Amino acid sequence: MAEIVLKNISKVYENGFQAVKNVNLEIKPKEFIIFVGPSGCGKSTTLRMIAGLEEITSGELWIGDVLANFLEPRERELSMVFQNYALYPNMSVYKNIAFSLEIRGVGKAETDRKVREVADLLGLSQVLDRRPKDLSGGQRQRVAIGNAIIRNPEILLMDEPLSNLDAKLRGQMRVELAKLHKKLGNTIIYVTHDQTEAMTLGTRIVVMNQGEIQQVDSPNRLYENPVNQFVAGFIGSPAMNFLECTIDHEDKSVDLHIGQDTISCNDTIAAWIRQTISETKVIAGIRPEAFLDEYRKNKQHREELTEKQKLYVTVTHRELLGNEVILYFDLCGKGCCMKASVENETKAGDTIPVWVDVAKICLFDRDNGKNLFYEKRKLEGNEN
Ligand SMILES: Nc1ncnc2c1ncn2[C@@H]1O[C@H](COP(=O)(O)OP(=O)(O)OP(=O)(O)O)[C@@H](O)[C@H]1O
Ligand SMILES: [Mg+2]
Repeated sequence: MAEIVLKNISKVYENGFQAVKNVNLEIKPKEFIIFVGPSGCGKSTTLRMIAGLEEITSGELWIGDVLANFLEPRERELSMVFQNYALYPNMSVYKNIAFSLEIRGVGKAETDRKVREVADLLGLSQVLDRRPKDLSGGQRQRVAIGNAIIRNPEILLMDEPLSNLDAKLRGQMRVELAKLHKKLGNTIIYVTHDQTEAMTLGTRIVVMNQGEIQQVDSPNRLYENPVNQFVAGFIGSPAMNFLECTIDHEDKSVDLHIGQDTISCNDTIAAWIRQTISETKVIAGIRPEAFLDEYRKNKQHREELTEKQKLYVTVTHRELLGNEVILYFDLCGKGCCMKASVENETKAGDTIPVWVDVAKICLFDRDNGKNLFYEKRKLEGNEN
């Protein structure tokens, strides 16, 4: 099975707009790799260049040991599923799935065996005789996927394949896609806006912004150790809170001043600050779950968090999300939010103590947004 390598790939459209800038990426066989990023950042363009539907302006695309820049799409051993998948309205589900084999001259018996196999895999066996208009959105989507996988392509490209589905169907299809990947063992390159899809399906996630790759990492590492403020803010929901912060390098302790509040660092973070940070003004990044209310602090037995990590916040809004609560509050004039325990009955207007889980804090350079702890945490991650 082939590795896919993008070497310094760029795309400049005819109007002179550069949609993709020097993208370097190695995709291993059998990976489920996900492209995420804001609208217009170049995800589809990159995927279409891999598919051969868009000319590569500069750089090299390798599929295995073949330079693929000038291969026709059909010579690339891949299939693609688009956001707006097109089914043939006058053909049955069976025909829609069988189509790509028939045009390649595969025999009737072989085609029939494969269509039934794929239909079984995708839960479409009962609807093979129907026309697309007589299917649900999720079933139609699965027909499009069936059409793409029937040739058992080594590489499957999917551009927001679930975006037309409602939340429940998306959830079901997500699970089905994960199973499908396990079963087929092919390489999947997948574009999505959806955080949950990215975090649950991907073996690795590629985060893009303005045509450039920001970070490529496993979902976990991306979340725990984002390379910069952009990635930190993009991955995670609700998003990480960013606050202006002044570092106070005292003799023994290292303190962070956030507005009127002061938080003492633990030994590890204090050491990291001493070793890597010379500036005093930085941006602190605190995830919604890195603020602990007293219920969660007690539940997690976080005795190490003391008065020195405590601050008081006045809640402006409370949101109950089934098994957890999101509390909104202002800190130094900025809207922040935290995840709280369902037992927490705080209402808007109440002032409550919260503890900052300092071990999880990120500090970013104010000028270039770089995560100043990135190398430290990377090292720590490798040691564990
Ligand atoms: N044919 C074209 N000519 C000029 N610019 C284009 C063309 N196609 C796309 N673009 C621009 O290139 C940039 C990247 O587009 P692309 O479709 O790759 O974004 P995307 O990340 O897939 O966004 P979305 O999440 O909205 O689908 C956008 O700014 C888009 O306007
Ligand atoms: Mg797109």
